Amino acid sequence: MIKIAPSILAADPLNLERDVRKAEEAGCDWIHVDVMDAHFVPNLAYSAETVRRLREVTKLPLDVHLMMDNPETMADTFLDAGADCLTIHAEIPGDVSALLERIRERGRMAGLALKPGTPLETVTDKLNQADMILMMTVEPGFGGQKLDERVIEKIRTLKETGYTGEIEADGGIREDNLDRLATNGLSVAVMGTALFRDPDMAACVKRLHRISRGE
Ligand code: DX5
Ligand code: ZN
Repeated sequence: MIKIAPSILAADPLNLERDVRKAEEAGCDWIHVDVMDAHFVPNLAYSAETVRRLREVTKLPLDVHLMMDNPETMADTFLDAGADCLTIHAEIPGDVSALLERIRERGRMAGLALKPGTPLETVTDKLNQADMILMMTVEPGFGGQKLDERVIEKIRTLKETGYTGEIEADGGIREDNLDRLATNGLSVAVMGTALFRDPDMAACVKRLHRISRGE
């Protein structure tokens, strides 16, 4: 069954605790925290302080996605704040392997993210250093975009390498495309708009889990 990870980018920033508690009660599996530096992506979002406070209000694993040019400057701060999984982008100028190793040294899941246009081949030598591969299904920076169908093929190819870590997708995931992601190897679905805009989140999560089981 696919784990559902609501992205708080689509939550109400003035009622974050309420929305995260709602997601936990609705049966979501992880909480996805999009961090943006207004440089790697043209948007700004969330700080380590938000992660620290979220750690106090939810038991769900905190899946922190660093959309930053220089995540090495903030990785330990987010780990100290309580991130269970810390994901960096393959496209950064810094030393990706060293940072993935650092995250693992601290006993957390090391995630490696690829933008839709980044070929899987660019990270095949790093697969054994990452506990999760995050396949962006939209151009990072904003929620509410349309899923880039080409990425489904990338997910299938990754699965076929025999990769045993988590395979996560992020952006534009809906009830009507989750089944194709599931049958091609997805294990974690980051969803913002489709979840937080649904009037009955619990019923939506139940449907999503059923779809992911192929029912
Ligand atoms: C892009 C963001 C979005 C967001 C979820 O950088 O990371 O992918 O989390 O997007 P929607 O709202 O399309 O589910
Ligand atoms: Zn994300």
